[in-house]
Order: sequence, then structure tokens, then C-alpha cells
Amino acid sequence: MQHGPLSRPSSVGSTVLAAATAALACLAGSPSTASGAEPPPATQLYHGAAYYPELWPESDVDRDIVEMKKLGINVVRIGEFAWAKMEPNEGQISFEFFRRVMDKLHAAGIEVVLCTPTAAPPVWLSYGHPERCFVDAQGHVMIHGARQHMSYEDPVVRAACFRIVEAEARALGRHPAVIAWQIDNEFKCHVAEDFNASAVEAWHAWLAKRYGTIDALNAAWGTEVWSQRYQHFDQVPAPLRTPFLHNASLSTAYRMFSRERIAEFMDDQSAIIRHYSQAPITHNMSRGFAINVERMCRNLDFASFDDYPAADQWRNMVLDCDLFRGAKPGRPFWVMETSAIHNGSLVNYSTAHPPGFLVAEAVSCYALGSESFCYWLWRQQRTGAELPHSAIESAWYEPTLGYGEVKHVDEARRELQPLLTASHPAPEQAAITWSDLGRAMMETEPLGGRKTDPVDYESGFADWHRVLLDAGLYRGVRFEGASLDGLKLLVTPLMPYTSPEFLARVERFVRAGGIWICGPVTGARTGEHTVPTDGGLGEAGRLAGVDVVYSYPITGTGGEGEAFGLKAPLGGWCSVLKPVLPDTRQVGTLSGEWAAGLGFLTERKLGAGSIVVMAAQPEGPEGQALLARILTHYADQAGITERAASTRGTIVCPRVMNDGSKLWVVVNMDGRGGEVTLPGGAADALTGTAVPAGALKIGPYRWRALKL
Ligand code: GAL
Repeated sequence: MQHGPLSRPSSVGSTVLAAATAALACLAGSPSTASGAEPPPATQLYHGAAYYPELWPESDVDRDIVEMKKLGINVVRIGEFAWAKMEPNEGQISFEFFRRVMDKLHAAGIEVVLCTPTAAPPVWLSYGHPERCFVDAQGHVMIHGARQHMSYEDPVVRAACFRIVEAEARALGRHPAVIAWQIDNEFKCHVAEDFNASAVEAWHAWLAKRYGTIDALNAAWGTEVWSQRYQHFDQVPAPLRTPFLHNASLSTAYRMFSRERIAEFMDDQSAIIRHYSQAPITHNMSRGFAINVERMCRNLDFASFDDYPAADQWRNMVLDCDLFRGAKPGRPFWVMETSAIHNGSLVNYSTAHPPGFLVAEAVSCYALGSESFCYWLWRQQRTGAELPHSAIESAWYEPTLGYGEVKHVDEARRELQPLLTASHPAPEQAAITWSDLGRAMMETEPLGGRKTDPVDYESGFADWHRVLLDAGLYRGVRFEGASLDGLKLLVTPLMPYTSPEFLARVERFVRAGGIWICGPVTGARTGEHTVPTDGGLGEAGRLAGVDVVYSYPITGTGGEGEAFGLKAPLGGWCSVLKPVLPDTRQVGTLSGEWAAGLGFLTERKLGAGSIVVMAAQPEGPEGQALLARILTHYADQAGITERAASTRGTIVCPRVMNDGSKLWVVVNMDGRGGEVTLPGGAADALTGTAVPAGALKIGPYRWRALKL
């Protein structure tokens, strides 16, 4: 059964009640099914838009509502940049404008995700106060303008944020239109770590709490290097500019500190809202920002994200759906923003979607577990910095290029709704690990990357995701701290540190029959971002039954890896492997100048499962083929059944109907059309017509729902 964060009985008036059930379950820290009383299934799919009524004459609201209804827009998100409208002068706070707008929306049956406005602090807060502003790693102080220009570490700014949030929650928190809250918007989208003086003060307090004594910090970071040894916490620099690089431990710690602090700021806002409102709380985020996604999601009631893929980047959207499906297990996520046709700012824009792409994108998001599909934005900006961004209505109020596409999305949504509200995404059998610490470490030290051959966590992660996707394996993402229950295959690339808790979970999973693929880079550093001295892969190596003979950057050395009859060039960081336990064997071999004959791929049988280690990243087209061979080999061995044979670019989103039967939503994503191979006994889920076994053609950007 699908547990909608916003699930509720169908009458609009019951919204808050059902949302409260979900919010309270979350507050108690219980997974959605743990109470024994299952939350009701989602009763609708949301189709929404970011709406900025404060930018237009108030009289336009009536027309907006009429036009929204024509397109099946049933939710709008408001308020994230409206602080100056809510509090034009310090302390002069009024929500009457928003109340009037929300009354009208509610009367029309359009629900509201209400945002806290802290994403765009007003000028009375910053004017004459550079000390309250955000400072970047070069020491540049932001001035007023754009957004995210102030430091949330500054006590005056923080207090002003909490005051407006409290006033908003008190004024509007029980408004019947509100089905959810969004805290701020896209924390750290334009900025990364903050070096404001208050941030540095908080850094020292954070270090003192984490290490207890300065000696413990010195030991953990190995500060004898370059005479870095500190005498007390206040001396520890924040990693601002220096002649050369900072200590790796310090750099990574500052990232993790900063990401923790922004999550705490978000949690503090949530705590205020929860005094006045029972609606569930989310934050619109993206995996690419300087945040800790897993930490951000911890205290949210549901996860939401934005993604703006141009048509040829459709795999990014699938990746995000897979990632955020894992963020709050058992709860649908939200696609909070995407563009109707293209995004754009004063200086750039993406390629406009071809006709049909938007429907394929929306259908795949809904089918992969999203409860919503929302656009940025309803009406083209007349002023500001995003004038060329696509919208649904133009600034002069004519339908835009995207209008017809949005209408088609609504038609598809209406067709899908009965099926998707009576089903949930299939349980995942294969998953990739997402590690926010791993990402931070790779930002400090892109292991195996260099300026001419960059390596970064997100694109490396996306490469692995792509191989699973293109191999027809239904996949999920498990955050580093998540349970591995239900999985048969776990793939963990690019995670330099494997914690004892993570390894303990992995070991249990493997002993019970799972297969763990410990990918390149994984295990090569300690949790303090130092080199392990107990073997090249530390504890992970011990568990996998391997020693690392040498480690070095293999890019450009002619090194190749061979396994299961395929060979490919290798790149990035290489940990040359040697099996050291009787139950560990080498199943793939290195060739090239330095490590010929040594281990590229090893496999240790452990309990009922196995641990596989890969020394380095296979690259190029041969690399993709080799990775696909390796992954399908172990998917077969793990007994993975959640997979489909479809041509590349056509994806299968498997779901389970409430009666236990299977539903496949098949979507052509690349606009070329494709095929999927069906087993016997399939029927079109919309018409009930039988569909013969074998190849079923799917037209460009078309979709089919099939009961198996
Ligand atoms: C998002 C942001 C929106 C808008 C949009 C444009 O990242 O949340 O406010 O700027 O990008 O694509």
C-alpha cells in the first residue's frame, strides 16, 4: 500500500487530519508501517506549480485559478521568496494578503504547500550590516541581492528567520488549504560552506564537542604534518584561502560541520512550525547542493527535490526518483520543481524539450514513486533574474509553448491515478549506496581525478546508476545509514570511508545471502580522511579477504581490467588487489605496466552470500560493457527477478497492486521509441485488453501500463 505523506480521504476538508497522522508518525520517529495502523493510500496524484501571487496585481488571482483548473493544477507552492511582502519593515508583519489568496485557492479546491520565506531575506535585515552576510571560501562577503546572501549563522539573522517563521505558522498553519510546509528553498544551491565569523565560532564549538580535547583532534588529523599542531580549538582555522591546500581531515570536517548546521537550522524552523501546524514538512533540495541529503531528510516528513533535465538528460530524473524514493522509505516523494519546456536565467538556458518529453518525464516520475509533478513556474517572471525561464502562462498571459504539454501531462495523470493510487513501487532488490560523507571526501580529494581527468562523486555515482538502468535492472538507492532489508545486491562505489556500522550491516546482509560489490575508491580512507594504516582498504579489505598491494592513479598508465571474458581500460584510483583468505579468489585480472596479473576483481564467499571488490573504474564504451557484464553476472547470481528486457531508452517502472499483482509502467524516455519484452498473460491495465507475450513496441515518448 502506498503511504502518501499527504494521503487523505477524498474530501478536501480532511486534509489536515490525514496529514497530521503522517506528521505525527514521523515525529515519533516511527516508520510509516510500524504503528500497525497503516496510513491511508494516496488518493490522488498532485499536479502543481510554483506560484508567486505577490508579484502580480491581486486581481489576477481569480483568473489564475480559472486557468489552473483547466490544466488540472491541484496544488501550488507559495511564499518561499516573499519575506519582504510578509514583513516589509522590521517587525511589521502581516499575512493577510496570503490568507486572502489561500482562501480563494481553497474554495477552488487547489491545495497549498506553504513555504517559509527565509530563502530571500529582505533589505532591512542586510542594509548596513555586512557582518550578517554570507562569506565564501575566498573570504568574499556577499552583498544584498539575488538570494541566499545572508548568513544563517549570524544570531540576528537567525532570530529574524525564526520570528517570521513563527508568525507565519501562527497565522496560516491551520489554514485548510495547507497540505504541507516547505522550509526555505534549496538550501546551499548558490553557495556552499559559510565562513561568516559566527560560522567560525560555531565551528570551534562543533570541534570541541566532537573531539573533546585538542589532543584528540591533533591525533585524529595527524597535525604534525607541516607543523599544524593546535593548542586550543579556537586556533583551528576554517578552511579559507591559504598558499596551498588545507589538511584533508580539516577540509572534510568543515564540509560536514557546515552541512550539519544547515540541517539544524532547517530542523529549528520545523520545530517552530510543529507548534502551530500539523501539516507535514518538507524541503525542496537537490543532490548537487552543498548539503548532507541523508541528514536533511532525517527530520522531514517527506522528501522533495527539483530537477531540470533537458530531454537528453532524462536519466538524471530517473536517478533522482530512485534516490529520493529511498530518502523516506515507504513514503512517496515529491517532484517539487521541473520546467514545462526549459529553464533559464539572464545568462543561460537549457534546450527546450521536444514535444512529448514532458509527458514521458511526468509518467516515469509518478510511476517511480512521486506523489506530485510540479512546475517552476506558473507564470513567466516579468522582472528579476529569470526572465527567459519557461512557465505555463507567459508574462503577457498567453499559453506558452509548454501549455499544451502540461495539458497532456494532466490527461496522463488522470489515466494513471486509479492505478497508481492502488499500487506502490515494487520492492527494490538491487541498490546503490549514497554516501554524503563519501561525497564530501571526494570534494576534498577527488581520488583518482586530476584537472585533465576530473572525478566527482555525483557523475561517478550517475555512471553506476546508468549501468544498472540500461541493463534493465530495477534499482533503488540506499543511503549509507539505511537498512539493507529486502536487497539481494548492493553496489557501493566511491565511498572512501566504510564505517563499522555500515560494514556490520553489510556483513549481516552478505551472510544472509546478499552480494555486496565494493566499488572503486570504497574503503581507501578512514573516517577522519586519512590513509588507513591497517591495509589499503582498512576494515572493508579485511571483510573482503583482500590486501591492497599498491594503490595509485591508473588513468593514463595503460592499465586494463579483464573479467568474464571482457576487457576494458581502467581509470581513477586503483587499489591493486590480492586475495588473502582461503575463501577469496581473484575473478578479474589487471594488465598494463604496473600490476599485470594482480587482482582487478575479487570475490569472497561469506555465509550464504559474497563480497566482490573492484580495483578501479572501467572506462569508455568497453568499460560500460564490462560493468554491465559484471553487474548482470552478480544480479543473476543474487537471483534478482525485478528486471526487464527493454531496448535502451525505454524504461520499466515496476509496481505492486494492492491485490499483490504486478503492474509495469513502460515509458520511452529517449524519444526514439523502443520495445519491451513481455511475459505471457499481460493485459493493458487501462483497457483490460490482452497483450501478447514477446516484444511490445512503445512509440517515441509514449507509455503503456500493463498488468502482468
Ligand atoms: C530552482 C529554484 C527556483 C528557480 C528554478 C529555475 O532551482 O528553486 O526558485 O530558480 O530553479 O530553474
